[in-house]
Amino acid sequence: MKFLTNLRRHAAARPMLLILALLAVGLGYSVVAPQQSSAETEMTQQIEEGKALFDFTCSSCHGLGGEGTTQGPSLIGVGAAAVDFQMGTGRMPAAREQAQLPARQVNYSQEQIEAVAAYVATFGPGPAIPSPDQVSPEGLTEEEIARGGALFRANCSACHGITGGGGAMPNGKYAPNLTETTGVHIYEAVRTGPQQMPTFSKEVITDQDVREIIAYVDDANSQPNYGGLTMGDAGPVSEGFWAFVIGIGGLAMVATWIAKKGARAR
Ligand code: HEC
Ligand code: HEC
Repeated sequence: MKFLTNLRRHAAARPMLLILALLAVGLGYSVVAPQQSSAETEMTQQIEEGKALFDFTCSSCHGLGGEGTTQGPSLIGVGAAAVDFQMGTGRMPAAREQAQLPARQVNYSQEQIEAVAAYVATFGPGPAIPSPDQVSPEGLTEEEIARGGALFRANCSACHGITGGGGAMPNGKYAPNLTETTGVHIYEAVRTGPQQMPTFSKEVITDQDVREIIAYVDDANSQPNYGGLTMGDAGPVSEGFWAFVIGIGGLAMVATWIAKKGARAR
């Protein structure tokens, strides 16, 4: 007691007590306050990084909030998958206005791309970047790969050719060759429908279907060429051309033959 009375009498006692009280309150608060998990901090950090890169590189065409400008479409709801596809194949950032942006060398790290993708995903819900097992053809049976071939012929070959060799489209555009495309980018193209390509929902083409298609494209392009006329493997475009040559040519011959016979009969 004597000590306390002495202390109270001391000139520095009041400020000292105040500091002690403040320390106690601070300590108590840090124990009670909700803790932000480290995963959460990492995520916000990634989104912030993505925002910085987006504002600097993409917003001139797509707007600061991804709302779109006259230079580029709105990115609200395109999802992380569209960004990973467009940046991962080097199409974005677009350099200048072109009818169709070709796949190019990629100048960003996968980390940077995923950061921008995470930021764009905050604009609105859209397809996510697939997980490795969503695109891995591993473990598929021969039948399932053959089924992938049937799915590809039914849904993709009209534009991309029977084995994915690519094909011409109206107005100087084209459906690219898929032989070098990764499984991830095939998945993302199917779900986000770049340019004239239709978007296929999970109801139309399931994740399992996409895996089978990836396996088929892989398989078709690792197959040796058995010789013979591939007709460019371009599918209906060049095949249609041959049908035209042979079909119309044949008809012309028949017509000439009939005309000759007719002349003789008269
Ligand atoms: C010079 C203008 C320009 C810049 C810069 C640009 N874009 Fe684009 N972007 C476009 C145009 C034009 C299109 C539409 C043409 C197309 O689909 O090929 C497009 C399309 C896209 C799409 C596809 C949208 C959809 O509906 O699927 C995504 C995703 C995208 N851009 C992301 C980005 C990102 C991310 C960046 C920055 C790294 C970026 N863009 C930079 C002009 C630009
Ligand atoms: C109506 C025509 C059409 C159909 C049908 C179509 N695509 Fe495409 N596809 C395109 C066009 C055009 C592009 C190029 C888009 C661009 O350059 O932005 C493309 C791009 C792609 C790419 C990107 C390739 C690259 O350069 O990295 C992939 C992968 C792809 N398509 C896969 C498919 C698959 C798989 C199917 C069937 C499920 C399919 N496409 C159906 C027209 C089509």
